[in-house]
Amino acid sequence: MCGIFGYANYNVGRSRGQIINTLVDGLTKLEYRGYDSAGIGIDGENDWSEDSPVRAIQLYKQVGKVSNLKEEIISHHPDVSETFYSHVGIAHTRWATHGGVTQVNCHPQSSDDTNQFVVVHNGIITNYRELKMFLKAEGESFKSDTDTEIIAKLFNYYYKKDPDLEFYQLTKDVLYQLQGSYGLMVKSVHYPNEIIATRKGSPLLIGVKTEQKLKVDFVDVEFINDSEQSTEANGSYLPSKEYTNSSLRKSESRAILPDHNMPIEFFVSSDASSVIEHTKKVLFLEDDDIAHINHGELHIHRARQSEGMSTTRPVQTLELQLAEIMRGGYDHFMMKEISEQPDSTFNTMRGRLDFKNKNIILGGIKQYLTSIRRSRRFQMIACGTSYHSCLAVRSLFEELTGVPVSVDLASDFLDRSPPIFRDDTCIFVSQSGETADSMQVLKYCRAAGCLNVGVVNSVGSSISRETDCGVHINAGPEISVASTKAYSSQFIALVMLALQISNNVIDNKQRHEEIINGLEEIPRLISQVLEKKEEIKEISLKYLHGKDSMLVVGRGYQYASSLEGALKIKEISYIHAEGVQAGELKHGVLALVDSNMPVVAFATQDSFSPKVNSAIQQITARDGRPIVVMTEGDNLIDRSKTSACIEVPKTVDCLQGLVNIIPLQLMSYYLSIAAGHNPDRPRNLAKSVTVE
Ligand code: G6P
Repeated sequence: MCGIFGYANYNVGRSRGQIINTLVDGLTKLEYRGYDSAGIGIDGENDWSEDSPVRAIQLYKQVGKVSNLKEEIISHHPDVSETFYSHVGIAHTRWATHGGVTQVNCHPQSSDDTNQFVVVHNGIITNYRELKMFLKAEGESFKSDTDTEIIAKLFNYYYKKDPDLEFYQLTKDVLYQLQGSYGLMVKSVHYPNEIIATRKGSPLLIGVKTEQKLKVDFVDVEFINDSEQSTEANGSYLPSKEYTNSSLRKSESRAILPDHNMPIEFFVSSDASSVIEHTKKVLFLEDDDIAHINHGELHIHRARQSEGMSTTRPVQTLELQLAEIMRGGYDHFMMKEISEQPDSTFNTMRGRLDFKNKNIILGGIKQYLTSIRRSRRFQMIACGTSYHSCLAVRSLFEELTGVPVSVDLASDFLDRSPPIFRDDTCIFVSQSGETADSMQVLKYCRAAGCLNVGVVNSVGSSISRETDCGVHINAGPEISVASTKAYSSQFIALVMLALQISNNVIDNKQRHEEIINGLEEIPRLISQVLEKKEEIKEISLKYLHGKDSMLVVGRGYQYASSLEGALKIKEISYIHAEGVQAGELKHGVLALVDSNMPVVAFATQDSFSPKVNSAIQQITARDGRPIVVMTEGDNLIDRSKTSACIEVPKTVDCLQGLVNIIPLQLMSYYLSIAAGHNPDRPRNLAKSVTVE
């Protein structure tokens, strides 16, 4: 996830200093969407070329927080006093997905050394390799490792082919080539004081600020006419589209057109948090919309026709408060992040799993794959929720690789200082990438000379920098202290790691296919469980609210679910919860079980079901009445002896934990609220624990 922000002023005098401040302040509000680097593109102090009165585009970029970008801009001493009456600027705060955290990889990305087209982008272009190959064959060379640079170069490529195109028409040609998701903004010396904002799968909205009363409270979408309609993709890259002169027309539909040269300003943003301080009048773009801001006018075009698509975009008045917008309409970040899991789990797999051909490519470990495969042992190290994600995949790792896997809490590992050998591969799993205990173990392992692999959410973090290679989980920033979407994405990243390491073993082929098919379904299955929110809330309030203590029981693949479920309940609802391996009930824990002890049991069907069912009988025989998380339609469990059953869809055994954990995440949230706590800020806990 990244944040993009644009600002266009028309007939409003704004100094370069004011423009810079507006862009940088906009980015500060978007920083929660990504904060490993930032950049802006504005009109500079010199002309673009000797025979052009148009200003060259000046880019400022810096790694780290937006405050670092501010310092970078100041260090260049720009002329902040020069005033512009018509100007467009674009800005970006990055959460790296393609390419490391470096100044070169910061956005805006540029088409060439003279910045003819500059682009900011939120999303992932999945066919960027093919497009890069094409552009290289055309003589282009690339400076960055980003997929975004390709977009800037495509703009230049099509512009050179037909410099008469209007900016929005040129954009259609470029978008026609892109696969994947994007929120994009483009600025160009060839279209001074114009800006393009377009989206597919990434949010984008436009705030409108003007003293005049807007004539319309909606903007018509200017649909493609026949001569512009794209031909169907024919599988080859860069199919050409012909424009006839008749297609170069001015719109007759209703757009935002300033009256009598009245002042008007536009604010384009990934979300309303950065716009609301300027204006409450916004319109939300839909997928495939191309917004063209051109000397104070706003027109909306379509990249492609869509059946049933609304033909207008209403200008809405935001009534939300800033804090609500940041939470995307949810009351808490935790609920937002739980609900995001269909998307975040998909993002973890995007561009890596080829569901059609059952292939996997983890670019971040490719070079080290041979060494990893030669390892005699995998040692996983993590803390908290990340530790549980390691436990969740341990047996799959052992099954697929045939290599023993140890899983250690970083703090316990440090206490023991166990032997580590050069032919070990140590896997460090961390959402933040900054956890002090895990970092200490990483130093220890580096000294031991083994290969160190990171599975990290935060790009550019200490663990991602100091491991030899790794996999970013791409879940997007997690704000709530209690980890939810990072857990499911770490789980998937580790499953993908196991698949990648073992995909040279022919015997694994069938199991691989089964798992890849299962992974494809996971976002949908998570959505199905999320639909049971209300039912889970009721069960939580009826059977668990107000209790002092509870047990969460599971075994096999669900042992990790029981530990993680119990941790969620402890950390935000402050109810003592113990995750119990079902086989261990008879070794002491049963002493606690009676009709007053709440129990949640994971009993979804897999090869361990007979044993789990016998554990449930041990509980019910002592008058315990468990809440059972079970497979939809299961009739092996005696429902009359349960408090409640939560039915979840079935998936492949080793992935079932991804589905099963959702009810426990929701339970912990509702119990926290019912007890009057703030789930986003649990007492005595920090998001990133940087002390030992
Ligand atoms: C803290 C957080 C947990 C997190 C753990 C490990 O305890 O509250 O949510 O699971 O640290 O953090 P990491 O960033 O290394 O995954």
